Amino acid sequence: MTTAAGDRDRGTRAAVIAGIGGYVPGEAIPNTAFEHRLDTSDEWIRQRTGIGFRHFVSAGTATSDLAVAASRRALASAGEHAVDMVILATTTPDHPCPATAPSVASRLGLGPVPAFDVAAVCSGFLYALMLAESTIRSGGAERVLVVGADSFSTILDPGDRNTAVIFGDGAGAMVLRAGNRDEDGAVLATHLGSDGGQADLIMVPGGGSRERTSESASTGWNRYFTMQGKRVFEAAVAAMSESAASVMGRVGWTPAAVDRLVAHQANLRILRSVSYRLGLPAERALVHLDRVGNTSAASIPLALADAAQRIGAGERMILTAFGGGTTWGAAAVTWPHLVSSHSHTGAQDDSLVS
Ligand code: COA
Repeated sequence: MTTAAGDRDRGTRAAVIAGIGGYVPGEAIPNTAFEHRLDTSDEWIRQRTGIGFRHFVSAGTATSDLAVAASRRALASAGEHAVDMVILATTTPDHPCPATAPSVASRLGLGPVPAFDVAAVCSGFLYALMLAESTIRSGGAERVLVVGADSFSTILDPGDRNTAVIFGDGAGAMVLRAGNRDEDGAVLATHLGSDGGQADLIMVPGGGSRERTSESASTGWNRYFTMQGKRVFEAAVAAMSESAASVMGRVGWTPAAVDRLVAHQANLRILRSVSYRLGLPAERALVHLDRVGNTSAASIPLALADAAQRIGAGERMILTAFGGGTTWGAAAVTWPHLVSSHSHTGAQDDSLVS
């Protein structure tokens, strides 16, 4: 099933990007760090994925810590601290229960605002963006903080070379405010989809109500993230291309009119394939995975935060992602004038101290 929004006849009120921020923990870990314990190499990882480095949380650091750090930067970038709602996309919440978003809202001092998590794996940020956008557009909120944060290193099997080298930890946050469709920064169209028939492609089998925690404990392996890489690759290229083409059609953008493709940072070859299918020159695709790997729900806002200084106001962007579920989505946005430039993603920062 798909949902879509963004028709021009829905009035001029729109959600507008007001701030962006990102955060990655600790030191950059190079591909060579895996060579001593896995049958892999820096050359294989670079050639097959484009990834060179990633960041992992250390023991004691949780997803909410990353989310708080990125959100502080996004709120500073927006120049105003208050929001009416917090939506956090994550696959690695601090706890199975409760949701992580209320903790993030509380630590940020945002007051008793509604705060909830969204679970759509690597598509999570676009699911959260669509919820925020439609809530603002319908008048249900004036300002919403949307966060994508994941600590995938906490669910990776360190002995599985198919997944251990691909993912990294991080968070990206975006503040959306009520504004006008004609403003730079407006979210102009969104598109989401899912196919639960492909749930086996990306899964953590244990720990939920199907395979109980107590049963998982005896075998151990099924609390880890599993992925059928080749099938994911093909499904991701197809779904992201179709979803992106859908929103381009809705806003009437030809390939020549799109300044940037901000696709989920899964694999450089996936980015190239999606660009090609959309008729976009490869250099229009934002590339951040070389330094952070696949950061799941954080991927798109983290890439935007990293590139914020280089993107011109008014540039037209297509955001698109694919993830477990399977899920996918896309959005057509323009880039805003940001009030301040607190949008970098440097790891050395005291933001983790709440
Ligand atoms: N180092 C060395 N060799 C590796 C490896 C690693 N880290 N990971 C896999 N291989 C091996 C495989 O075991 C296989 O060996 P075999 O031929 O002896 O069986 C060989 O490389 C080719 O495997 P294949 O799966 O065909 O590789 P690939 O070119 O498809 O690349 C992925 C593997 C995982 C990088 C790629 O499929 C991918 O990026 N998929 C999408 C992953 C993703 O984006 N997930 C998140 C989406 S939300």
